[in-house]
Amino acid sequence: MARTLRDVVFVDGVRTPFGTAHGALADARADDLVVKCVAELMRRNPGLPPDRVDEVAIAATTQIGDQGLTIGRMAGMLSGLPKTTPGYAIDRMCAGAMTAVTTTAAGIAFGAYDVVVAGGVEHMTRHPMGEGIDLNPRIVAEKLVDPSAIVMGQTAENLHDRFPGIGRKRADGYAAASQRKTAAAYAAGKIQHRLVSVATRSPELGWGLVTRDEPVRPETTAAELAQLKTPFRPHGRVTAGNSAGLNDGATACLLAAEETARELGLPVGMRLVSYAFAGVDPEVMGVGPIPATDKALATAGLTIDDIGLVEINEAFAVQVLAFLDHYGIADDDQRVNPYGGAIAVGHPLASSGVRLMLQLADEFRERPETRYGITTMCVGIGMGGTVVWENPAWQGHSASNRAGDSAA
Ligand SMILES: CC(C)(COP(=O)(O)OP(=O)(O)OC[C@H]1O[C@@H](n2cnc3c(N)ncnc32)[C@H](O)[C@@H]1OP(=O)(O)O)[C@@H](O)C(=O)NCCC(=O)NCCS
Repeated sequence: MARTLRDVVFVDGVRTPFGTAHGALADARADDLVVKCVAELMRRNPGLPPDRVDEVAIAATTQIGDQGLTIGRMAGMLSGLPKTTPGYAIDRMCAGAMTAVTTTAAGIAFGAYDVVVAGGVEHMTRHPMGEGIDLNPRIVAEKLVDPSAIVMGQTAENLHDRFPGIGRKRADGYAAASQRKTAAAYAAGKIQHRLVSVATRSPELGWGLVTRDEPVRPETTAAELAQLKTPFRPHGRVTAGNSAGLNDGATACLLAAEETARELGLPVGMRLVSYAFAGVDPEVMGVGPIPATDKALATAGLTIDDIGLVEINEAFAVQVLAFLDHYGIADDDQRVNPYGGAIAVGHPLASSGVRLMLQLADEFRERPETRYGITTMCVGIGMGGTVVWENPAWQGHSASNRAGDSAA
């Protein structure tokens, strides 16, 4: 049987505001956060009949309790999708939602689905990092990985060791800039339209409505950051200020075959070009985006010079800076995280991959001179993931994608 691969498009995406662990969303259920996102996607896209959704893939790193019971299936039903729409759960830690997108996108290209919901959630209040893990003793006994590989902050310290040119000052400068960029994006109303508000009820505070990301600290200065403790190593360089925090939140997006999007009159936010995941030494997991990006670019027949926008997850400033140094991109290059990143808005692990995509889709609209962009992230236990996207609004001036030519 002959098959033709189909083009896959990112139609639309939303997320909850991200909360600080033990903060605004502490009393919300993780699955309810996903439901808010899926229901909002359906509300915003009335041209999509619910029975045309062929799959719901939702990622979570800790798949127990309200993040368990194959959360994609549960969230689909709770969102009002028909019981005939299946769903499942995905885990690739921080790249969970990214993997939900790439896996279901491959299914669309293959012809197994026309339209899917893909997303992720992590409620780090209810499910702290490492909850319930049962590390195989061989990992330590056979020295398969350095013990520091299990603590993400320690892997970031290891990265500082490996790249002595990236010191505390540079990491703090990058972190302060991320906060500034996020504050500017909020002030310009560039983030709010992707957020679905979450009603909360706390025994102490009563009813509330969460409409903004809680972790953002727009007043942050590099001088203040320089005073913070280094919890992962005495006299280290990684701090609460130059890392993403511990957060609660969910994301979801709609993907479709381009022909189905056209048939249903759905928007085409981005076109999928290629994707790749790569493994690296777990004790320096932060370098993962580099081989993943090389692989994804090679598959697409592109080079980094063709990439006009980079949405890189800021698990730690050092890991972003290692990526930028590798490709010869300046710390303040305007192609990189124009709306700021996880250091400011937070990183509810398995949800973040789709947050990067929401931002890239919006940035593409603002920059029709940019043809290609990437979303990329590092992953615990030593991996990286990168997705290359094409801007449907591209007006054909590809030269302006080149280094140094980026628009404001
Ligand atoms: C780094 C980490 C341990 C800090 O946790 P924490 O101590 O609970 O963090 P807090 O938010 O309480 O911040 C610690 C201090 O820094 C201060 N701080 C944090 N960000 C700041 C900023 N931008 N500006 C100024 N001060 C800041 C806080 O106010 C707090 O000060 P205090 O001790 O006087 O109250 C935690 O966020 C972490 O583990 N992050 C990494 C998460 C991770 O590994 N994700 C996966 C990636 S692969």
